Amino acid sequence: MIQDELQKLKERALKSIGGISNLEQLRNVEIQYLGRKGDLTQILKKLSELPAEERSKVGSVANQIKQELTKEFEKAERVLGKREVNKLEEEWIDVTASKPKRWLGHLNPISIIQYELEDIFTSMGFMVLDGPELESDYYNFESLNIPSWHPARESQDTFYVEGEDLVMRTQTSALQVRAMKKYGAPFRGIFPGRCFRNEATDASHEHTFYQMEGLMIDKNISIANLIAVMKALLRGVFKRDVKIRLRPGYFPFVEPGFELDINCLICGGKGCSVCKQSGWLELLPCGMVHPNVLKFGGLDPKEWSGFAFGLGLTRLAMMKYGIDDIRLFCGGDLRFLNQF
Ligand code: FA5
Repeated sequence: MIQDELQKLKERALKSIGGISNLEQLRNVEIQYLGRKGDLTQILKKLSELPAEERSKVGSVANQIKQELTKEFEKAERVLGKREVNKLEEEWIDVTASKPKRWLGHLNPISIIQYELEDIFTSMGFMVLDGPELESDYYNFESLNIPSWHPARESQDTFYVEGEDLVMRTQTSALQVRAMKKYGAPFRGIFPGRCFRNEATDASHEHTFYQMEGLMIDKNISIANLIAVMKALLRGVFKRDVKIRLRPGYFPFVEPGFELDINCLICGGKGCSVCKQSGWLELLPCGMVHPNVLKFGGLDPKEWSGFAFGLGLTRLAMMKYGIDDIRLFCGGDLRFLNQF
């Protein structure tokens, strides 16, 4: 029956219209159903085979379907047309607009100094080692000749993990015995990193600060080797000879031990808040590795000797850049940080 065919055609056409997502598809579907060679025209061709009476009846149904479908196509065209205009608006770009400014990050002054020092020391054959910030009591104290009863623990109070044998490391010296055990001797290495202490902060003390340890072990290492390397280090950092002085210093893990001070570069030696009005800044404790520490590291003190130093990296950055308050490094003030 032609009427059934017409009805089915209408259903198919409506279904197709429902699934259309752009104007091009819509046009193709319209041609498929209502075009000159389309499905509806094919059915209408069969009208001539019908008796006259039925022909006009079916003809009017066909016309009605054609009108209905035409309306549906027009409606779909309006909706899709609007959608495409919106899409155009969404995707619109202003090709004349200037590019937004991109902010480039930069290194913190402590990192700048650290990388400079790494260059100086690797050029002298030192390796660069990293170690845990949460360290065992053994490596941070015991193996450095500082047993639990030792008064030297007083000056390096820190944060302990309750119930565990762990401390926030107070010094990069904690890596000395680790390095000896791992690499044996001869050995040359530096260990830059963060240290932590239970500290009342002031212009030159922070609870979190950076140190850089140095350790050299070989046969017949003497204080002369230590002084030569320290001078090379300071010349490399300050690009000129800096006035220094060596004072006896006590650290349980070196014998003899020294405090290497540099002339305060903030005030030129006149006295300021950073050097506590003394004109000198304690920068670099150092000394000859204690025989007990060599033994903890599995080395025979009769065969090997060495020196170690513990550079205050944060304080060195203060000297180099003329920063008069250590708290600025961790203060997060961009007016300070953006200067480097
Ligand atoms: C030590 O930590 C020893 N481990 C150094 C050492 C290494 C001696 C090897 C001998 C041989 P001291 O506690 O003095 O020593 O700290 C070393 C440096 O770290 C200081 O000279 C200082 O520059 C820096 N420092 C120490 N405490 C602070 C702090 N609270 N804030 C900022 N810098 C600090």
